[in-house]
Amino acid sequence: MIETISELALLRERVLGWKQAGLRVGFVPTMGNLHAGHQSLVRLAREHADRVVASVFVNPTQFGPGEDYERYPRTVEADMTALEEAGADAMWLPSVETMYPHGTQGVVEIRVPGVTAVLEGAHRPGHFDGVTTVVARLFNQVQADVAVFGRKDYQQLAVIRYMVRDLAFPIELVAAPIIREADGLAMSSRNQYLSPSDRQTAAAIHRSLQDTREAVMAGMSLRAAEKDAAAQLAGAGFAVDYVAIHHPDLSAADADAAGPLVALAAARLGSTRLIDNIEFER
Ligand code: PAF
Repeated sequence: MIETISELALLRERVLGWKQAGLRVGFVPTMGNLHAGHQSLVRLAREHADRVVASVFVNPTQFGPGEDYERYPRTVEADMTALEEAGADAMWLPSVETMYPHGTQGVVEIRVPGVTAVLEGAHRPGHFDGVTTVVARLFNQVQADVAVFGRKDYQQLAVIRYMVRDLAFPIELVAAPIIREADGLAMSSRNQYLSPSDRQTAAAIHRSLQDTREAVMAGMSLRAAEKDAAAQLAGAGFAVDYVAIHHPDLSAADADAAGPLVALAAARLGSTRLIDNIEFER
């Protein structure tokens, strides 16, 4: 049976008990509204740990003005079932007051420089500051040995890696593969905002990244491949925020050098914003 914990003292007691018994503790942070992608993170955490805590917290500080904080789906009962099914031992369900005891205006902020300036960081100012601010708290609250993050939020993972190294958090990070629907659309809680016709269109984002990979591997320049993919998406009805090919560390990719690359895209269908990425070798 999964245990739902909303008191920090109880969470600490539970995790300390496991550690004193010599058990390794895994952690999966989520904002709830869980789908098969999240469950795969919990299953992967189980492979790396004896006990798994998953947090469910819709973090107000990582939503910009006009973003979907208010309407973000809150489905705690179903989340508990999904976590239990995936093998989590505890659901950490803090209130906003527990997370931000000085209120959301009195927050000690964690801000990662550099990698937060591009891509999502450029299009969602302050978003990553909210993510690192809450993930640092979650790490301190849960005190896990290992945490699992999905590769779908590719830049988020890079930002968290930077923070963990810079602040010397005693935690191992594990990156989990993207889980996709049958037509290739990366699983996301935001997919349910899509109208039936937009849902059909949405898989084009994955196809355009696959085409980008093929074009680059066939010798097309990175800039031309980015432009083609953006045009393909715009033609399919997306409002494109970016298609960009970078080094895996998200620095600018050398125009010609062989080696690993990542192509990332963010595009909107109506008011729903989708992101996706694909890693490959040239
Ligand atoms: O990836 C997410 O769902 C969130 O950004 C996270 C890591 C749970 C922080 O709120």
